[in-house]
Amino acid sequence: KTYGVVLAGGVGARLGLSVPKQMVKVSGKTILEHTVAALHDSAVIDEMIVMVTPGWAEKTATILGDKYPKVSRILDGGSSRNETTMRVLNAIEEEEAKILLHDAVRPLVDGRILKDCAAALDSYNAVDVVIPSADTIVTVDEDEIITHIPDRGFLRRGQTPQGFKLSVLRAAYDLAVDDPYFSATDDCGVVLKYLPDVRTKTILGSDRNMKVTYPLDMYIVDKFFQLGTQEAPVPEEDLREYFTGKTIVILGGSY
Ligand code: CTP
Repeated sequence: KTYGVVLAGGVGARLGLSVPKQMVKVSGKTILEHTVAALHDSAVIDEMIVMVTPGWAEKTATILGDKYPKVSRILDGGSSRNETTMRVLNAIEEEEAKILLHDAVRPLVDGRILKDCAAALDSYNAVDVVIPSADTIVTVDEDEIITHIPDRGFLRRGQTPQGFKLSVLRAAYDLAVDDPYFSATDDCGVVLKYLPDVRTKTILGSDRNMKVTYPLDMYIVDKFFQLGTQEAPVPEEDLREYFTGKTIVILGGSY
């Protein structure tokens, strides 16, 4: 069995709206609903859990209605992303399953990525979705002085879903809760830190599977929805149309 978990427990402070960013409408639906629909459409996902910002469960249930029967639960998230994952683990009774955890704010994840993640879990205990980095990444110290320029060939940008055998993710979090210095921003980080022998396989994500973090991202995501399901690279005519300004970007307001 494979669980698809939508992580929508954040408040979207960096976007700075009065509602969590996953509640903003793009192309006729909330970002959250686009994401739920993308996971729901995937044949590899059997059951879904949606983790929401505390206070938003009822509204989320109204938005989703009965359109997504694989969604078995809509639960409150925690105060950090890792806390939200812990609540997911507490909510699942099975000892073993596959679990794919996906950011609610990556509404353009596609079926190929979900399928590749689920398939990778036949051979690995953990899987992450990554893309190459076009930019050079540098590390800096507290004075913003460069300390290291890692070889770009070995750097990737992490996306989601992140997938695990449930027992492995549980084991990592069991160790993490006992660690007073616990801090991590994602689930692969927790597994890497507490179960360093687990080999996390990476599979290729996509540029479209971007995360809405800053206001500009909202426009880019909206543009991707306007373009529909065309595969990157975007056809040249569309780029020309875009740059001559014929295409108008319309944001749909918020829920
Ligand atoms: N998330 C979550 N529970 C939290 C924090 C974040 O489920 N306590 C989810 C977010 O809803 C989002 C994903 O994790 O779908 C990625 O997090 P991020 O982009 O950092 O979202 P926010 O925490 O909402 O954004 P910000 O850091 O700007 O407040």
